[in-house]
Amino acid sequence: MTDSNRPAKPRVLISEERLKTRVSELAAEIQQDYADAERLICVGILKGSVFFMIDLLKQIDLPLSIDFFQTSSYGADTVPGEVRIRKDLDLSIRDRDVLLIEDIVDTGFTLRTIMGLLRFRGARSVKLCALLDKVEARKAEVHIDYRGFEVGNNFVVGYGLDHDQIYRNLPFIGVLD
Ligand code: IMP
Ligand code: MG
Repeated sequence: MTDSNRPAKPRVLISEERLKTRVSELAAEIQQDYADAERLICVGILKGSVFFMIDLLKQIDLPLSIDFFQTSSYGADTVPGEVRIRKDLDLSIRDRDVLLIEDIVDTGFTLRTIMGLLRFRGARSVKLCALLDKVEARKAEVHIDYRGFEVGNNFVVGYGLDHDQIYRNLPFIGVLD
């Protein structure tokens, strides 16, 4: 049975296998860099980073805590670059080493805002791990310490990323043609 209301199937851009390999590499790098950290605070940005964050952190053998921000931007009553915090952290990050975990850096506005806030609150260090980097779309400079893949200026879905709140559960990164 076919259902014409079913959303289109995305084309595979980054396969499940490639994601697995790269996520393991990133985990190994992070583990090495933070080997002496007393307690790392890993902060994900909801909801897109969740699948990536789980796979990544399961492979890191260090004392760590997890926490989340949820942000929103580009609403009808916002100016470009204005980012709102819809859910704030539960933990204090003062004097802590913070690793931000994000699905994709697009314009860079979200990360610029979040990183500024973490520094303002007195984090000892703030680093960024982003699965995808949409370099061509960048409007605010953001330094990515751990980067999974560079992608072109297309809308991508899957492995946490959505389009109208669907496709997050795809095991690969896909493009909607
Ligand atoms: P920013 O433009 O760098 O602030 O990114 C804002 C957020 O938009 C990202 O964290 C993603 O959740 C979302 N986003 C940006 N590009 C894409 C995309 O290609 N697919 C799905 N979500 C995206
Ligand atoms: Mg996001």
